[in-house]
Amino acid sequence: MLKKMERRLVYVTRRERFNAAHKLWNDSWSEEKNLETFGKCANPNWHGHNYNLFVTVKGYINNDTGYLVDLKDLSKLIRKNIIDKLDHKNLNLDVDFLKNGMTSTEILVFKIWDELSEEVTSMGAQLHKVLLFETENNSAEFYGE
Ligand code: NI
Repeated sequence: MLKKMERRLVYVTRRERFNAAHKLWNDSWSEEKNLETFGKCANPNWHGHNYNLFVTVKGYINNDTGYLVDLKDLSKLIRKNIIDKLDHKNLNLDVDFLKNGMTSTEILVFKIWDELSEEVTSMGAQLHKVLLFETENNSAEFYGE
């Protein structure tokens, strides 16, 4: 068992995956400008990605369990608030918290943050980072700033 004096700030990360369709498009632009700017990502009939979402929370270890949070609980929380809403969906059309917005990875990370932040606090930890890989090579991350 840890003594109180040994309280250490730790970070733990849970990965969840989802598959979804989207389109990069700016409604206030012409079709020509959209196609020129977003290229293949502006395909009128959508395209999809296999997303990898990494959620990092921080806090102090619970002396009784040796955990910061139970990762099974963190997984459930992410699934309920994010994955169940995004997986096998059209991000531009189907998702309540993304409606009428753009769906670049940069925008997705802070929208996901807003859905998770208070929920993580209620688990006794603090949301530290939302990292989202759209492809193996492309990702965006957000720290709540
Ligand atoms: Ni895309």
